[in-house]
Amino acid sequence: MPKRLIAQGAEARLFLEHNLIVKNRFSKSYRIKEIDEKLRGFRTRREAKILQKLEAINFPAPRLIKNDEKENLIIEKINGKLVKDILEHSDYKKLCSEIGKKTAILHNNSIIHGDLTTSNMMLSKEIYFIDFGLSFFSEKAEDKAVDLHLLEEGLKSKHYRIGEVCFKSALDSYGREAKNSDATLKRLEVVEKRGRYRAKKGS
Ligand SMILES: Nc1ncnc2c1ncn2[C@@H]1O[C@H](COP(=O)(O)OP(=O)(O)O)[C@@H](O)[C@H]1O
Ligand SMILES: [Mg+2]
Repeated sequence: MPKRLIAQGAEARLFLEHNLIVKNRFSKSYRIKEIDEKLRGFRTRREAKILQKLEAINFPAPRLIKNDEKENLIIEKINGKLVKDILEHSDYKKLCSEIGKKTAILHNNSIIHGDLTTSNMMLSKEIYFIDFGLSFFSEKAEDKAVDLHLLEEGLKSKHYRIGEVCFKSALDSYGREAKNSDATLKRLEVVEKRGRYRAKKGS
């Protein structure tokens, strides 16, 4: 079966091959070759490590099938639609509550997603999180709060009509589920203020 390109991002191309997804981090000609190879290798291995951890805790994310430690990950294909495309026509409060709960599960396992947007979530039987290319391990309230803030900004910009309600619903369930959620939510207020200050300064 031939490879079919299904997505092209800034860092990676995704192919569908034999009902699996191949995520290839391509070389960037503007980077020095050695640095480019190191960076792609590092990110590929890091994403693989996170996917393995997620499988170990039974978190709904693509299973890792193969990792060449350099630039290719082969992962399970999730059959479903991007949450970005269906959120507004669905029971969005319920879906966002699920998103909040799943974010809490990640954080409880010291995983920061790093790019928590509805473009990186797919609805199958339940919501799956994808794209762990920017993820890392941390227990810091600051890192968790920044993760939540990204979710907030994404919801309020991409889904501006329902974003506010959605984020509230996500935060409610996050607060119920997350360990040390008081500290994280308090930190979120600081991160939000910082964001507003930056936006003001830039205007
Ligand atoms: N495991 C998967 N199953 C099905 N589709 C996927 C899977 N992983 C990625 N995709 C599709 O490819 C797109 C880009 O993948 P992603 O991992 O988010 O890479 P990036 O955003 O870095 O380009 C996703 O938005 C989704 O449509
Ligand atoms: Mg993505």
